[in-house]
Amino acid sequence: MKKIAILISGRGTNMQAIVESQLPHEICGVISNNPSAAGLSFAKAQNIDTYVINHRDHPDRESFDKALGNTIAALQPDIIVLAGFMRILTTDLITRFAGKIINIHPSLLPAFRGLDTHQRAITEGVKLHGCTVHFVTPNLDEGPIIAQAALCVRPDDTPQSLADRVLTLEHEILPKTLAWILDGHCTIVDNRVTLDPSIINDSCSFQR
Ligand code: GAR
Repeated sequence: MKKIAILISGRGTNMQAIVESQLPHEICGVISNNPSAAGLSFAKAQNIDTYVINHRDHPDRESFDKALGNTIAALQPDIIVLAGFMRILTTDLITRFAGKIINIHPSLLPAFRGLDTHQRAITEGVKLHGCTVHFVTPNLDEGPIIAQAALCVRPDDTPQSLADRVLTLEHEILPKTLAWILDGHCTIVDNRVTLDPSIINDSCSFQR
């Protein structure tokens, strides 16, 4: 059984999707930078250990990341999932856990890195939008892509309606991707992810 640490900043529905997918692995901790993150209550109710490292208690990013890194290291996770974790991590922290951090991002990367992805998708008039699970590297939202799910943008979509529909896709691909990594089906070669042939078709999905 491998160990999963999950980092959240808010409602934590992606963390909830991981918990509810009942992977045969241990969730060794849910960590939040935000003491009032709603997801912490869900995790506690599931008897998962929770930790708060409040970024406001730290004078700078380096100090926060050091404390966060020490909390993560003490849990000895095999994988660290950024599930709606809204802090940019320092290169030091990412290097400390190189190859072990994944992130769910609400766009089809490399389009729309950063924030406000749904609004930007509508503004640009893209016809396809979605979400991406990728390994985390020091450049924001640029790490090797593991899986993506896409949907059609409708003429009457709003940022909220897109966010809601993309979130449903996120809940499908994040637990699935996590299982592949923990089962050894993903390798990084030349900064790209190679997947076992048995799961390649499942690493991209499209919903009209
Ligand atoms: C999700 O849509 C996730 O993709 C996004 O925040 C939301 C968190 O929802 N993450 C980012 O924008 C990271 N840059 P959740 O707390 O309900 O899982």
